[in-house]
Amino acid sequence: MEFKIAVLAGDGIGPEIIEQAIKVLESVGKKYHHTFHFTKALVGACAIDAVGNPFPDDTFELCMNSDAVLFGAIGDPKYDNDPKAKVRPEQGLLAMRKKLGLYANIRPVTTFKSLIHKSPLRPDLVEGADFVVIRELTGGIYFGEKGRSEDLTKAFDTCTYTKEEVIRITELGFEYAAKRNKKLTVVDKANVLATSRLWRETVQEMAPSHPDIEVDYMFVDNAAMQIIQWPKKFDVMVTENMFGDILSDEASVITGSLGLLPSASVGIHTSVFEPIHGSYPQAAGKNIANPVATILSAAMLLELSLNLMPEAKAIRDAVDQSLAEGIVTVDIAEGKSYKTSEVGDWIAARIS
Ligand code: IPM
Ligand code: MG
Repeated sequence: MEFKIAVLAGDGIGPEIIEQAIKVLESVGKKYHHTFHFTKALVGACAIDAVGNPFPDDTFELCMNSDAVLFGAIGDPKYDNDPKAKVRPEQGLLAMRKKLGLYANIRPVTTFKSLIHKSPLRPDLVEGADFVVIRELTGGIYFGEKGRSEDLTKAFDTCTYTKEEVIRITELGFEYAAKRNKKLTVVDKANVLATSRLWRETVQEMAPSHPDIEVDYMFVDNAAMQIIQWPKKFDVMVTENMFGDILSDEASVITGSLGLLPSASVGIHTSVFEPIHGSYPQAAGKNIANPVATILSAAMLLELSLNLMPEAKAIRDAVDQSLAEGIVTVDIAEGKSYKTSEVGDWIAARIS
């Protein structure tokens, strides 16, 4: 079959890790007789530099006309240290999410045996932890009305959710729970926030139609604590935008595998697949960044957007073998380490 993939490499290490994922997809294409047409477009700081817009219209059009989007990373220190910058790379990401209707961000949190010792937690706490964080991605405080008083001494951000928004993300949570261990944890702050009370009330209305799923409700502060204390007790967690932003970073780091975890953003139009880590500008151009999270994002792309299950599994198996055989970048190497491109070459070769 033939597929159109939009490639948005972005900033920092984005281009070099994306190159490895393309290599791996091409190898999958050869083996399973598919043709992937990759088309590149600008996003993030490099798009601001080139055309003054972090998510240009051309890029949006390309995404809309593709079967899936492979995304690298965005961000540049020159913006992080300048709170007054008028246009920021992150706005490109938010615009992309909104315009493509990507209302759900899915982050599987899995452990890799060979990396357990890299976890900040005791191995017995984290070994075997396996859950999914489903974050609402186009609503809440990141998209609500915001502003500054005229004298600049006051600022506000508003958090808004509609019942429909809560229902569609929670349905996805139920779907994932049904395919997994049948446990859904709803994270909110219903003891304080009106939006959280709407969430909880809505999920309580939905729960009886999913009798086989055990639903529990957890305040976000408690959830932050329990992810560290008992990561193994979670199966599927569903939560609003900002809580999900924070908790999914926390969750990703407990496995010791930050450079290995992929994510998918899905919704109304074309889905986007990207590593959970950022643009790591200190490593840009050095051929040292870990490409595995991006390669595993390509596996998620095959599975969720193209419905190519054996192909996705071939990527995962090859990645597992690369880890087992120590063909890894410097961030996780015990002895000899390999370059970004060498890890990509090895995994691509393994597949073919
Ligand atoms: C993420 C990132 C973004 C977010 C930033 C870059 C705007 O942290 O994808 O989690 O907060 O949503
Ligand atoms: Mg984040």
